[in-house]
Amino acid sequence: MSISVIVRRSPNDTGTVIGLRLAQFIKEHPQARIGVATGSSPLPIYRTLAHEVDKGLDVSQVSWYALDEYAGLPSGHPQSYRFFLEKNLMDPMKANPDRLHTPDALSQDLHKSADRYEELLADSGGIDIQILGIGINGHIGFNEPGTPFDSLTHVGELTESTRLANSRFFGNLEDVPTLCLTQGLATIMRAKHIVLIAGGKNKASAIAGALLPPPKRALPASVLQNHPSTWFVIDEEAASQLDQSNKEVTGSDR
Ligand code: F6R
Repeated sequence: MSISVIVRRSPNDTGTVIGLRLAQFIKEHPQARIGVATGSSPLPIYRTLAHEVDKGLDVSQVSWYALDEYAGLPSGHPQSYRFFLEKNLMDPMKANPDRLHTPDALSQDLHKSADRYEELLADSGGIDIQILGIGINGHIGFNEPGTPFDSLTHVGELTESTRLANSRFFGNLEDVPTLCLTQGLATIMRAKHIVLIAGGKNKASAIAGALLPPPKRALPASVLQNHPSTWFVIDEEAASQLDQSNKEVTGSDR
């Protein structure tokens, strides 16, 4: 198992750890290609990055690639992932929005769109660092339980539990789309480095499951056990179902 686990007191602390490491990476690799997730978990990372930009970090040559997108939300919809990433990542860093790549989830042919995004990622030269959150059912991106480990960017169907969890952003369940475009598990696994951020008790069982060998399709994040350079940076509540031996085996740093 090659996943390293870093446990910090609070979600803010985990975001700071990752944000500062990313800033350092960008200083050393100004043309870095960074894969970005949406949702609540990465927000403290993006705040840290914006703060580093205020202090002089130059992100003008970095390319950003979204992990996924809801299908069918009109452009500019406040819950679209493009809108989210412009508002919470690009604008605070005063970065050119053209450097943010997202799958075209408004296309008449979503499958073609998925293939095009996969090609774009392959042609980019590869993601250097992929940021991930994790769903309470262990999904990464919108790869729900059962997704094959060899999946590429594809049209996905959201499970009821994911739609319910995300309805907190929409106000009600009916407005949450049922389809999405998402990088597949094999697409995610091609990133050179992967960092997964999680906080809160409701993520504890998914985190424990993801770290428990062997990898299993029922818990998509467990595929990361096969990746050569993955970190989980999680808060104490998300780590609450890991036993000490697990933390030692995985190199936990408290
Ligand atoms: C978001 C994404 C999802 C989220 C996951 C956790 O782009 O792909 O996998 O990372 O649903 O969401 P939060 O962080 O809101 O708990």
